[in-house]
Amino acid sequence: MDTTRTETDPAAFWEEIYRARTTWGERANPLLAETAGPLRPGAALDLGCGSGGDTIWLARQGWHVTAVDISATAVDAVRDHATALGVADRVTTERHDLARTFPRGEFDLVSAQYFHTPFAMPRHRVLRTAAEALRPGGLLLVVDHGSIAPWSWNQDPETHFPTPTEIADEMDLDPARWTVLRADTPSRPATGPGGETATVVDTVLVVQRIA
Ligand SMILES: C[S@@+](CC[C@H](N)C(=O)[O-])C[C@H]1O[C@@H](n2cnc3c(N)ncnc32)[C@H](O)[C@@H]1O
Repeated sequence: MDTTRTETDPAAFWEEIYRARTTWGERANPLLAETAGPLRPGAALDLGCGSGGDTIWLARQGWHVTAVDISATAVDAVRDHATALGVADRVTTERHDLARTFPRGEFDLVSAQYFHTPFAMPRHRVLRTAAEALRPGGLLLVVDHGSIAPWSWNQDPETHFPTPTEIADEMDLDPARWTVLRADTPSRPATGPGGETATVVDTVLVVQRIA
């Protein structure tokens, strides 16, 4: 198997990361837990599910989750992990390069948690498609990094973190069809991969499809 990093190929890049991974997630990102915790479970879509912590948490809350990632290794591992944890009946995994294809279906919740990549990606178009895939009343939750943590890959102090309003503006949402419920940049304590701690900022956008 060739595991050479191919810097021009997003799928190979993310495959290399997930092939090196030995543990798979069960815990939700904090802003997903905060947002989805009070909701009645329905159909959810996890965009860029990665190691699957959000998917497993949602499934355990009773959601039927479609987990999508560009990495075949990630989606296969999330499916196997869901089986091992007894929630496979509520988890569907699909491999997509979301720059090219998007899962079918309608959702009560679409979550894009730290849906970042070092490659060019028409992210606003993906998020716009996600907003289109919401059922009336459904929520799109976008959580991005809004600061550089000591353990971040990118340590460029000149980095521009798009504001929630900039993200919403790029999606070009018709106010007759969607409304912005939340657009802010809260701080929280976080722990890095080596156990170090820091305060980090998240960029949070919650969009609701109007019934
Ligand atoms: C920074 S990670 C975040 C993973 C996870 N959501 C989390 O919170 O830990 C970004 C994820 O997006 C996925 N990804 C990157 N580009 C993608 C694309 N074009 N289509 C689908 N998934 C992609 C990566 O494989 C990775 O799992």
